[in-house]
Amino acid sequence: MGDNKAIALFDSGVGGLTVVKEIFNQLPAEKIIYFGDTARFPYGPRPQKQVRGFVFEIMDFLQTQDIKTLIVACNSATAAGLEHYRERTDLPLLGVIEPGIRAALARTRNGKVGVIGTQGTIESGAYGAAFRRIAPDLKLYSQACPLFVLLVENDLAGTPEARQVARVYLSPLKDAGIDTLILGCTHYPLMADVIQGVMGPDVTLISSAEETARETREVMEKKQILNSSAVNGCRSRFFVSGPAGVFQELASKLLGESIRAYQIILNQQ
Ligand code: DGL
Repeated sequence: MGDNKAIALFDSGVGGLTVVKEIFNQLPAEKIIYFGDTARFPYGPRPQKQVRGFVFEIMDFLQTQDIKTLIVACNSATAAGLEHYRERTDLPLLGVIEPGIRAALARTRNGKVGVIGTQGTIESGAYGAAFRRIAPDLKLYSQACPLFVLLVENDLAGTPEARQVARVYLSPLKDAGIDTLILGCTHYPLMADVIQGVMGPDVTLISSAEETARETREVMEKKQILNSSAVNGCRSRFFVSGPAGVFQELASKLLGESIRAYQIILNQQ
């Protein structure tokens, strides 16, 4: 039988596309609906209460579509209050923080794990709290890297300037001797080459995108809502709150296929 409704994902911009890519890889029979809140990007420097308000609005919109699962494909939004979002829906709802921690726990050898994220994610203490719950024996080192999302959204992720910024942000984590680094922002896998280059080959990078897609499969398998037939026709739909053209261009490049995006005007600015 199966369920051929779509999986809905959202982020402040293109970062959540790293999760979309992984969903396409790991769950090729699933359709997705994506929302990029580009008019209100970035979320990282905003107060958590404001981010939660944005998320509620996006969830309300997405739930008017034919969807079966919701993924908060943004660490900053997850950190601002996954438990609050659960009260807004009866659908399975996944964040991107816990999957990454479980993967780090499985892979670290020396017990020293780093996490990098936006200012909002790191200052929220959400990673620290989840580590204490899931992996209390690991030593956690965290570092905010606020400029990374701006570099990615402006298609500057592979430039010498990006490498210079990465060297500055990542040097305390290198000095701490971590062997595993969680990319605690869905934009960061798009800078993975630069980050790996700075950290060196012995540090394992954990992409929360990859782990979240894996956990999504597990949750949907358990609930028996995976789509059992191949997707007929269009497998993805993209919405943005800002101008569609800018997003369309970068998203097509990142996904390696030409996509169309539609603008939806949200209330709060
Ligand atoms: N992609 C978002 C995250 O995972 C953050 C980008 C932003 O600051 O809006 O945290």
